Amino acid sequence: MIEIKKLTRYYGQLAALLDLDLMIEQGEIFGYIGPNGAGKTTTMRILATLLEPTSGLAFIDGLDVTKKGKQVRKTVGYMPDFMGVYDDLKVFEYLEFFAAAFGIPSRKRKGIVEGVLELTDLDAKKQFAVDSLSRGMQQRLGLARVLIHDPKVLILDEPASGLDPRARIEIRELLRELKHMGKTIMISSHILSELEEICDNVGIIEHGQLVFSGSMEQIKQRLGLHAKVVVRVAGTPDTALELLSTLPEIADVTCKGQDLSITFADGHENDGFLARTLVKAGVDVVAIEPQKLKLDDAFLQLTKGLVN
Ligand SMILES: Nc1ncnc2c1ncn2[C@@H]1O[C@H](COP(=O)(O)OP(=O)(O)O)[C@@H](O)[C@H]1O
Ligand SMILES: [Mg+2]
Repeated sequence: MIEIKKLTRYYGQLAALLDLDLMIEQGEIFGYIGPNGAGKTTTMRILATLLEPTSGLAFIDGLDVTKKGKQVRKTVGYMPDFMGVYDDLKVFEYLEFFAAAFGIPSRKRKGIVEGVLELTDLDAKKQFAVDSLSRGMQQRLGLARVLIHDPKVLILDEPASGLDPRARIEIRELLRELKHMGKTIMISSHILSELEEICDNVGIIEHGQLVFSGSMEQIKQRLGLHAKVVVRVAGTPDTALELLSTLPEIADVTCKGQDLSITFADGHENDGFLARTLVKAGVDVVAIEPQKLKLDDAFLQLTKGLVN
C-alpha cells in the first residue's frame, strides 16, 4: 500500500532522508520509530504530498506522490505532529469545516461528522470548544478529522506523544478498530515501547536511514531480547534447576534462593510447558512471574549504533 524507493531529501547540506527504502502492506499497522530528528516527519510529509523529495520515489496505493497529488490526498489521511489552531471553534464546527474543505456536499456533512464523532467517542463533546478538550481528546479529534474523507491509508505523526497512559490506551483501541475497518496505518513515535502492542511491523530510522525493518518478534530477536520468567519453588530448587538446564526451550537458568530466573531460547516463550514440565517432575511450583522486556533500553542501544 505504501512503497518508498531510494527516497532522499536534503535541507541545504543536511540529508534528512538518504536512500530510504520502505514497504508497508495493505491492512497493517506499521510503526515508524526513531529518535527526534531521525526524519520521520520529513518522510510522512512527503507521503502526504506536502513536501517534495530531492530524489527517489514514493507510491501510495500505486500512485506516485509527486505526480498524482490530488488522488493521493484522497487516499491518505495525514495527521501532523502539531494540529493547527482553531481554538474558538466547537468540535462539530471544526469537523464540518474540514468536511467542507474535502468537498463533501453539505447534505452529507452532518451524517459523516456524526459518524466520525461516534467512532472516536467524542459525541458527548460535540458542542464543546476545541481548546477546552484534554490533549487525549484533541488527539482523538485529530483522528476524527483525518477520517472524514474515509481514506484507505492513515499517516499519523506521533499521535500518542504527550498523552497520559489512559489516553494512550484509548488511542490504541481506536487504531485497532480502524485496522479492523481495513485501513492501512503508518504511525510514528520516538518510543518503541509506546507502539509495541499494536504494530504488525516496525521500521527503525536513524539519521535519515532505515536501520531495521521487520516484525516486533524479529526486532526482539535482533535486540537479543528473550522472554524471561521467575519461577519460585517450594523446598530446594536443585531438581528444578537440573531439569531446566537440560531443556532446549530454555537458554539460561540462574538460581537465587528459591527463585529460578529463566531466559527462553530464540522463538520460545512461556506457553504453559514450563509449569507442566515442572509439575510432572514433582516440583512444587509456588509462582511463575513473567519479567518485562527492557525494550526501550535495547532500542536506545540500537539507535546509538551499538548493536549490529
Ligand atoms: N524545514 C526544515 N529546514 C531545515 N532542516 C529541517 C527542516 N525540517 C526538518 N529539518 C531537519 O531534518 C532532520 C529530520 O527532521 P524530521 O523529519 O522532523 O525528524 P523527526 O520527525 O524524526 O524528528 C532534522 O535534523 C531536522 O532538524
Ligand atoms: Mg517529527
